[in-house]
Amino acid sequence: MFFLSRRQGKKAEVERRLDRSPAIAKPLDFQVTDSTMKGYGKLPQHIVRNALWNNLLWLRDDTVSSPCGAPFQATIKIDQTANREITMEKKQESGAGNPQETSEEYYFDDITQAIGDIPLIKLRRLPEEYGVKATVLVKPEFMNPTGSVKDRMAIYVLRQAVKSGELKPGGTIVEATSGNTGAAVAMFAAANGYKAILTIPDKMSREKVDTMRAFGAEVHICPTAVPPESPDSYYETGKRIHRETKDSYWVGQYFNQNNIESHYRTTGPELWEQAGGRFHCLVGGIGTGGTVSGMGKFLKEKDPSIEIVAADPEGSIYYQYHKDKTIIEPHTYYVEGIGEDLLCPSIDFSVIDKCYQISDKESFLMGRELTGKEGILAGGSSGTAVAAALRHGKTLDEGKVIVVVLPDSGLKYISKMFNDDWMREKDFLE
Ligand SMILES: Cc1ncc(COP(=O)(O)O)c(C=O)c1O
Repeated sequence: MFFLSRRQGKKAEVERRLDRSPAIAKPLDFQVTDSTMKGYGKLPQHIVRNALWNNLLWLRDDTVSSPCGAPFQATIKIDQTANREITMEKKQESGAGNPQETSEEYYFDDITQAIGDIPLIKLRRLPEEYGVKATVLVKPEFMNPTGSVKDRMAIYVLRQAVKSGELKPGGTIVEATSGNTGAAVAMFAAANGYKAILTIPDKMSREKVDTMRAFGAEVHICPTAVPPESPDSYYETGKRIHRETKDSYWVGQYFNQNNIESHYRTTGPELWEQAGGRFHCLVGGIGTGGTVSGMGKFLKEKDPSIEIVAADPEGSIYYQYHKDKTIIEPHTYYVEGIGEDLLCPSIDFSVIDKCYQISDKESFLMGRELTGKEGILAGGSSGTAVAAALRHGKTLDEGKVIVVVLPDSGLKYISKMFNDDWMREKDFLE
């Protein structure tokens, strides 16, 4: 039982239980009774957190569960003068008092636990400018610690590998990456005492390579314009390094079913808790396909009428394959992290209702519009997804709600899509 007070003198008594599963956003059960509001419902953690930070409510007393599930009493104090300080102290319980129990309750044990729990944000200008009457919400997955949605997948896969014993203490993690999975792997390695060796195609941004190296990873840059089966491709190079490195674990995001599983278990349920019953369509880019496939599978199980829409760059094989199951000759393109030149098991086409093909130019210009007109600094593949959402949005009536996944941060592309000289050089800008 704790008390919740709102500004303007309103008081509310709230019952809730805080489930400490930081990687998976769990809503808080709450019950409100006061003179002005009555009700029972679920309050997503990010709403509570935002409300606390904005001083719209504050907590005084609470019951929380310890990691092993045994409940104990705790007091949560908000320092109103410091505005954002939240401290939690364990109440003295008769016969209890194990200090270890207390210490784990109010902070994450390491940075990898701070993944997920990403809010939904409404686009205020772009839908109207593009003639879309439906509401468009974005899920800025770049708010994850290394600035991308891939934190979810990589850390889920690696935790499973530790559990199964495939990743041994002090071992080496090897992966082929377009940069985002690599950053997540490198973060996990740095935080937990592993070595990371990553291979990346040479078209990827300098910022991504430098980020992986900043975490202490060894990075091998490979040619982009070679077939995937070439021994020089980033994929084959990564596999060779894995074969040659003792005690190494290969993440294998294109084949690892824990890729889909991570989004089925975290991103999908998180969105359902945030907006279940109040949205009609999910839009996302497809690289390995893990994000859209895992979220799509979960959401379709909850409500089969939710439309799952994929966005694919021109040059990739997915759009045509989704249309008529033929595989076209791929060509290189500049958008990073999405599209593919081979079919891989981490994508589940059965949950994808519609696929749009978006050019590099449209993706980058839309990414810049998202930044300049909405204040949301996201990368090129976010531009691809928003472009697809706005195209699809024209087919939806007012009152319908679209959720778009924004996979990574624009900070990763300051030297490219946000650099006018680069954009002009590539003919994406007049
Ligand atoms: C920038 C970017 N966008 C989108 C994606 C696609 O995510 P997924 O591999 O889950 O399809 C990736 C994946 O690497 C990415 O790096």
